[in-house]
Amino acid sequence: MTLTWNRKHLLDLQSLSAWELTLLLDTARKFKRVGERDVKKVSALRGKTVVNLFVEPSTRTRISFELAALRLSADVINFSAEASSLRKGETLRDTVRNLEALNADFLIMRHGASGAPHFLARFARAHVVNAGDGAHEHPTQGLLDVFTIRERKGSVAGLKVTILGDILYSRVARSNIWALQKLGAQVTLCGPPTLVPRVFEQLGCRVVWNVEEAIRDADVVNLLRIQHERQRKTMFPSTGEYASLFGLNQARLRLLKPDALIMHPGPINRGVEIESEIADGNQSVILEQVTNGLAVRMAVLYLISGGDPAVEGDRFGDAVAG
Ligand code: CP
Repeated sequence: MTLTWNRKHLLDLQSLSAWELTLLLDTARKFKRVGERDVKKVSALRGKTVVNLFVEPSTRTRISFELAALRLSADVINFSAEASSLRKGETLRDTVRNLEALNADFLIMRHGASGAPHFLARFARAHVVNAGDGAHEHPTQGLLDVFTIRERKGSVAGLKVTILGDILYSRVARSNIWALQKLGAQVTLCGPPTLVPRVFEQLGCRVVWNVEEAIRDADVVNLLRIQHERQRKTMFPSTGEYASLFGLNQARLRLLKPDALIMHPGPINRGVEIESEIADGNQSVILEQVTNGLAVRMAVLYLISGGDPAVEGDRFGDAVAG
């Protein structure tokens, strides 16, 4: 049986199979090679329009999607919610209908409400990509994290991955959990009990509240920022106390395996979840994650537009989508 990619949208990683995740990662690997050529541009999305519809702030994801679309030869519109008629009370549905009246082919959406991209996909003609929805999912971040682990370690299966920080409010954590477990990793979650409740064990994760125990035998430690913007009440006494109990400092670094990867989706709060020297140190792959995000986002746009992942060599990425 030949399996083919047949999804119009990328809304989450929970609904993807291990096979689909692997196809996305393999396609991203091909686009990473395209990015190492002198000519980094391919023609797959020539004549198509990609709209970055970001209703929440972003640096990495928005710029990375913009560059991914440009590298695929699409036209790109960056929609600023602050300067838009959303501020005058226009609904999201009307906003999207107007964007589609201007022939938007792809809507890349970040929104503070969990499920907003799923809502959009119910009526949009365009392809919808979730660039982060509330505390629900951030699928391309999950993919780029897994891509980085796979590239550095060869495989994800059998690895021990610790995700440390604010799990409860983190869409990055959820996308990582789905992807890592489907690809065979063992996931440990650690942080204050208020931010890492035992209910996460129902997703198949180990929940540990002692940071030393959580990181000692990890192959990967993925640190997450405290999502103050989503917390409705104070979940721990102070950032200073959080840093001393859960931050990655020099003493804790010495407990790590020498080849353990240190990851962070950004933005970093230096001195809170990670000491500055460690963020810039030789076990950190934080900027590699950013580099890999471009290849991953090119792969997502390419596959959902009907691009052929099987093409090999210099012609890869030049098949124009219908
Ligand atoms: N990792 C991430 O989503 O960063 P931005 O919020 O800057 O896009």
